[in-house]
Amino acid sequence: MKARTLLQTLFAAGIIFPLGLASCSTDDPVMISADQQQAMIHLGFRLMFDEEFSRPNGFSCGTCHDPQLGWGDHRPQGKGVQDHTLDTATGSIPHDGTLAVAGPRFKTILTGRNTPTIYNSHVFPNSFWDGRAGDLAHQANFPVGGFNEMNSDWSLDVIPIVEANTEYMELYLAAFNNSSVSQLNLVNSIGAYEETISVFDTPYDKYIAGDATAMTAAEIAGMDLFFGKAACSLCHTAPMLTDLGYHNIGVPDYGQIPLTGGTDLGRGAGDDWTAAPAGASTSTPNPADDYKFKTPQLRMAKVTGPYFHNGFAATIEDAVEFMATGGGTDLSGSGTKAPEIVDRGLTLQELADLTTFVRDALMGTEIK
Ligand code: HEC
Ligand code: HEC
Repeated sequence: MKARTLLQTLFAAGIIFPLGLASCSTDDPVMISADQQQAMIHLGFRLMFDEEFSRPNGFSCGTCHDPQLGWGDHRPQGKGVQDHTLDTATGSIPHDGTLAVAGPRFKTILTGRNTPTIYNSHVFPNSFWDGRAGDLAHQANFPVGGFNEMNSDWSLDVIPIVEANTEYMELYLAAFNNSSVSQLNLVNSIGAYEETISVFDTPYDKYIAGDATAMTAAEIAGMDLFFGKAACSLCHTAPMLTDLGYHNIGVPDYGQIPLTGGTDLGRGAGDDWTAAPAGASTSTPNPADDYKFKTPQLRMAKVTGPYFHNGFAATIEDAVEFMATGGGTDLSGSGTKAPEIVDRGLTLQELADLTTFVRDALMGTEIK
């Protein structure tokens, strides 16, 4: 595919390089060299786009996190492995992709939430809309086994495929000086690659670094509103444009379409996998967190729609207007809606300037 070829070219030319490997510990507790880091990143990149790992084949991380689509999929909800039957007895989908079991058949299956971009996702200590996983490397444990994502298995599928592939093993050996393939080293490689998908060269970044010509007058007016009258920075705090926190802004609840239905309580559901890489939930539900979702970082937002945890807003213009005019009503009556989300009384011109700032001044160099 075009995306992969271009990325590989960028790697070969040394244009994509690591910014920091904070999330990377290998299962071999020794310091790794710059060459080893490069091998690890290259391995992570290859793993993210390998469609052989899913059952049935055809789905990689890159299917949903597509670099050509802002590292997302431009869908309200993600779309996982297709054409299979849910075994109602086990709640899973047969790994061989057959339709032999009795149960509802899905031509396609949705993830229930919007696929977040990978751009700058390394700024978050916790991953997913509700923060239930840890850093990027920790997060990478989960999609492989998700029946509505890759429906696969690290030990049965991924590791044997890596072991049987000469190119993978060359990279693995170069990265880890060790031919024993472990899930930990593979997820650390994916995390190391994702850390390179980093954008901090937007007109806004250049402007605050001292280049007064980097933004237009409308963008500067919008920035002043963002940090002033519109009060966006209460949660989208500089420099990351996220407080790393969780808030209920009143996005209407669709439930986790289509399987579990019902409501999507977000952080209030209490799933916490950070202590349990096997995927077990370890924390208890907390009604005070109902309907709270993670504050997204906003760089590259222009190309990462649709917006919010369930794709409720189709365009960036709709998303900004929703945020500036009081969000949604607290339909659930949960009482958790953020008090900061009120109609900021912007004029039409102010709303236009604010939108221009979020849409245009936060666009950096796109890696395609
Ligand atoms: C079927 C589509 C799909 C596939 C395949 C998929 N993802 Fe995701 N990804 C999602 C969705 C949807 C979410 C949000 C889920 C949630 O918050 O509950 C997500 C969340 C994430 C996040 C969290 C980002 C953040 O800001 O919190 C990262 C990182 C990520 N995925 C990386 C990966 C990696 C690595 C793989 C492959 C091993 C992968 N994804 C495979 C759809 C997908
Ligand atoms: C109370 C904290 C808070 C304030 C104040 C706030 N936001 Fe947000 N913002 C969030 C949260 C939380 C989300 C995700 C909510 C969800 O998906 O349910 C979000 C989502 C967004 C999104 C969608 C991003 C994406 O990738 O889906 C945009 C755009 C946005 N905010 C812009 C703004 C603007 C512009 C303002 C000021 C008018 C603002 N926000 C004020 C917390 C806040």
